[in-house]
Amino acid sequence: MCGIVGYIGTKQAAPLIVQGLKRLEYRGYDSAGVCLLADGGIRIEKKAGRVMDLERAVDMDQLHGTVGVGHTRWATHGVPNDANAHPHTDQSGTIALVHNGIIENYLTIKKKLLNAGYTFRSDTDSEVLAVFIGMLYETLQDLEQAVRTALAEVEGTFGIVVISTHDPDMIIAARRGSPLILGIGNGEYLVASDAAAVIAHTRQVVYLNENEMAILRRDGFQTKTIANIDTHSVVEEIAFELEQIEKGGFEHFMLKEIYEQPITFRDGFRGRLQTEEGTVKLGGLATVREKLQSAKRIIITACGTSWHAALVGEYLIEALARVPVEVEYASEFRYRNPIISSDDVVIAISQSGETADTLAAIREAKLKGATVIGMVNVVGSTIARETDAGVYLHAGPEIGVASTKAFTSQLCVLTQFALYMGRMRGLSAEEGKRIAQELERIPEYISMILERADDVKAIAHAYAHASNFLYLGRGYNFPAALEGALKLKEISYIHAEGYPAAEMKHGPIALIDENMPVVFIAPHDEIYDKIVSNIEEVRARNGRVIAIADDEDTYIENVANHVLRVPRTLPILTPILASIPLQLLAYYIAVERGCNVDMPRNLAKSVTVE
Ligand code: M6R
Repeated sequence: MCGIVGYIGTKQAAPLIVQGLKRLEYRGYDSAGVCLLADGGIRIEKKAGRVMDLERAVDMDQLHGTVGVGHTRWATHGVPNDANAHPHTDQSGTIALVHNGIIENYLTIKKKLLNAGYTFRSDTDSEVLAVFIGMLYETLQDLEQAVRTALAEVEGTFGIVVISTHDPDMIIAARRGSPLILGIGNGEYLVASDAAAVIAHTRQVVYLNENEMAILRRDGFQTKTIANIDTHSVVEEIAFELEQIEKGGFEHFMLKEIYEQPITFRDGFRGRLQTEEGTVKLGGLATVREKLQSAKRIIITACGTSWHAALVGEYLIEALARVPVEVEYASEFRYRNPIISSDDVVIAISQSGETADTLAAIREAKLKGATVIGMVNVVGSTIARETDAGVYLHAGPEIGVASTKAFTSQLCVLTQFALYMGRMRGLSAEEGKRIAQELERIPEYISMILERADDVKAIAHAYAHASNFLYLGRGYNFPAALEGALKLKEISYIHAEGYPAAEMKHGPIALIDENMPVVFIAPHDEIYDKIVSNIEEVRARNGRVIAIADDEDTYIENVANHVLRVPRTLPILTPILASIPLQLLAYYIAVERGCNVDMPRNLAKSVTVE
C-alpha cells in the first residue's frame, strides 16, 4: 500500500523520485505527488491518477532541488483526488510529509487541532499528522523532536518521510508497521517503501526496524528508536537484479511472471531437494528441526493467494507427515484469541512479507509461545525478520498485483516442507524419492503448458463476456479452484466463485444455465470418476464446461465443452500444473476486456493496512 521515495544528495531529485515512484506504483496507483525543497522554499505537485498523469501535468525538469519526497497512493481515508494526494503539509506550509499506513486516532488529534484553530485541506489521516507535527514544531523549534513527539501520540501504523524548509538539508523517516528502507549511496541517500525504488542507484540498503527512525543528511545518516535511543544499523545488499523488475519485452508484468515460472519453480527447490535420499535440506529450518519433529499441530496463517497455498499445504502436510494442520485467515486468527501452545508450529505464508494481518498473526502466535516459521518471498521483509526460522520462496520480485509465480513457488516450498516433515515422521525414502523426482520434472511440465497458451487464449476469447464463472475442484485442487476464481475476479472484474466440486449441489447448482461457464480441475486421480459425475450434472443443466485434464485422459472430451491439457503428474503436484492455465485464462480474459492487468482497480500489491 502506498509507495514512498525520498532523496537527499547532489542530483536533481524530481526525475529520480518520479522514476522510483513508477517502480513502486504496484503498491498503490490512485494518486501521486512530489515535494522539493529549493531556494528556501517548498514546492509541491500532486494529482489524482497514475504517476504518468502527474508527469503529463508537470514538467519535472522544471522542479529544482536536491532534497525531496514523493508518494504514490492507495486511498484509505478520503477519495482519490488532488487534495487527498500526498505530500501533505502543516498549516504553515513549511513541513511536508508522505505517509503509508493508517493513523487510527486521527479523529481525536484532528479535533484537538481544530479546537486550537488549525484547518485542513484534505480528508486524510496523513494531513492530520503533518499539521500535528507543525503545531509541535511551533513550540519545540526542533523538527526531529516534533516528529518524535507526534509519533509518540499516534496510534496505528506508519511509514513516514518528512522534509522541511526549517532544516533543508535533512530528511526524517520513521516506521511502525509499514516498511521503509534506506538506500546508501555515495554522498546521497534514498528512503523508500521497498528496494525496487532504490536499486537503480545503489544495492546497499538498511531495513528500518519497527519503531525506528532515520535522520538522513548528505554526509551520513543516523538511526535511533522513535523514543530516541541510538540503534545499530546493518547495511545489506539487495538480493535481486534491476532487470527482474522490468517487463523484459512482455506486455504486462503478470504475463512475464507467468512465463518465469519454469525458472522460479526450479529456484524454489535448487540446492534443497536431495532426490537420491528422497528428502530435502532446508537450511533455514535447522534451528527449529526438533520443534518440528515433536510438533503436535501445525497452523498455517496467510491472506489471499497465500491462504490458498496454505490450504494446499494442509493437504500436503497431513498426507506426507501425518500431523494435523489448521489453516487460518490471518485477519481472523489475530483477533479471535486463538488457543496456541508451545507444542504448536505456526507457519506464515506471504509473498510480500509485509501483509499487516499476517504480521499481526505471527506476533500473536509468538506471544503465546508457538514456534513461528515464515515462507516469504521478499528477502529482508518484516515477516522474514520476525519469524523464528524460515524458507524463502526465491521467486524473485513479483510486480503484477495478481500473484502468479509466488503462488507456484509457495506450493514448491510447501511440498518440500511436507516432504521434510514426512521423512522425519515415517515417510519412506522410496516414497520421498518418487515425489522428489517428480518435483524436479515440474519446470519442464510448466514449459509444456506455456507452449499451449494459444488454446487458453481461444477459450478466453469465447468467454470474455461472461458475467459469472464457477471454478470447481476436489482434494488438492479445491484450493486451486479458489485461486483460479480469485485470479479472474481480481483482474477482469468478472464475478467468480470457487467451490469443492461436490459442494455444487448444495447451492451453487442453482446458478447454472447456458450462460454459466464452469471450470473443472479434473486430474486423473482416485476421485476422477466423482469429478466426471459433477461435470455431467453441470452439462445436464446446460452449463458450459471448461475442463483442465491431463494429456493421457481420453474420456474427458466426451463430457466437457473445452479441454485444457496439462501433463500427467502425481496427484499431490496437480494443483501446481492446474494453476498455469488458470492464470493464463484470467490474464487473457482481462486483456480481452481491456482491463488494466497489472494494476487492477482498488487493489494494491502489498496490503500493509488491516
Ligand atoms: O504478500 P502476501 O502474500 O501476504 O499477500 C496476500 C494477499 O494480499 C495477496 O495474495 C492478494 O490476494 C493478491 N492480490 C492475490 O493475487
